[in-house]
Amino acid sequence: MTSVAALRVSRVTGSDSLNLALLKDAITGLSASAKSLSPKWLYDERGSALFEQITGLTEYYPTRTETGILQHHAHRLAGLVPDGGALVELGSGASVKTRLLLDAATHLDAYVPVDISSEFLHRTSDDLRGRYPNLEIVPVVGDFSQPLDLPESVMDHPKVGFFSGSTIGNLEPEAARMLLQSASDWSNVQGFILGVDLVKDPEELVAAYDDSKGVTAKFIANILIRLNREVRANFDPAAFSYEARWNVELARIDMLLISTRKQTVNLPSVRIDFEAGEPIHVSASRKYTPDSLAAMVGSAGWKLDHNLMDAKSRFAVAFLSPSEELCEAVEIRQRQRLPSRRTTVAHGKRK
Ligand code: TRP
Repeated sequence: MTSVAALRVSRVTGSDSLNLALLKDAITGLSASAKSLSPKWLYDERGSALFEQITGLTEYYPTRTETGILQHHAHRLAGLVPDGGALVELGSGASVKTRLLLDAATHLDAYVPVDISSEFLHRTSDDLRGRYPNLEIVPVVGDFSQPLDLPESVMDHPKVGFFSGSTIGNLEPEAARMLLQSASDWSNVQGFILGVDLVKDPEELVAAYDDSKGVTAKFIANILIRLNREVRANFDPAAFSYEARWNVELARIDMLLISTRKQTVNLPSVRIDFEAGEPIHVSASRKYTPDSLAAMVGSAGWKLDHNLMDAKSRFAVAFLSPSEELCEAVEIRQRQRLPSRRTTVAHGKRK
């Protein structure tokens, strides 16, 4: 069934309240021979609250490990951030970890949090304005997977990007590369701070994504409840069991909902048949090694300058610099007076 047909059906049935984008995505993903759903649908209100709980779980080491690295190296990172610069954070959420950087990098001029949730973003920005009265806070509502329109007021500032939480690992490799490449094109960009989870003992990885309290299982299964509510599907959530699998070939954790029996599920305009044991792929979390990380950022126009890790090498906070080949290309363009992608403005404190 094509998406256009799906849209038409919802119009005929008069079901205006259907979430058509979700329906379209679900039909495409569930009609494929390897069934999948997009992880972006995990984060409704209940999903976001469950994810918040995940970050506090004992087995889920990434949040506290990354926070520890940022705490330990805050001054070192601050020293890499240019004077009078702007910190641009992709998927800023509540900007909790960011405060560690903002507290240390008092020479920053501006902070640009970018987040898809407008209400949350503006509430957080107001709070930050109270906390950091000398910092210009310029929130941008946007989807970090799309190229960013930088606000005019920070266009000339030397910029440093920030993308934490190993969220880069939830993107397909090509999308991850494109995100970094697009950041390497920001005007006057000087660096990028990237939080990345590292390859480790599969048992520890699986436990982080399949915790003993079952919070992650609830978080993933919530997508079925959402489909029932928002597109009137008739999933029986009890007929699917959650599994986190380490995929050694692709160096990623796969998060799957496994059909516990042969069954048929109906969505408006389409029926989906499941074999017993058949999985729906809901999310992946890629893990890097210092080498695979350097290769990935290298292919996107960056150089891995500093790789800050915790004592057990569980997680990395990488400081990336624009790679030299790219700098040279910019210089040549400037010498030839061609429009430059990256201007080299002096770093003086602006006010
Ligand atoms: N960026 C987080 C990670 O990959 C997101 C995450 C944690 C997640 N637990 C999850 C995503 C469970 C989907 C399902 O670690």
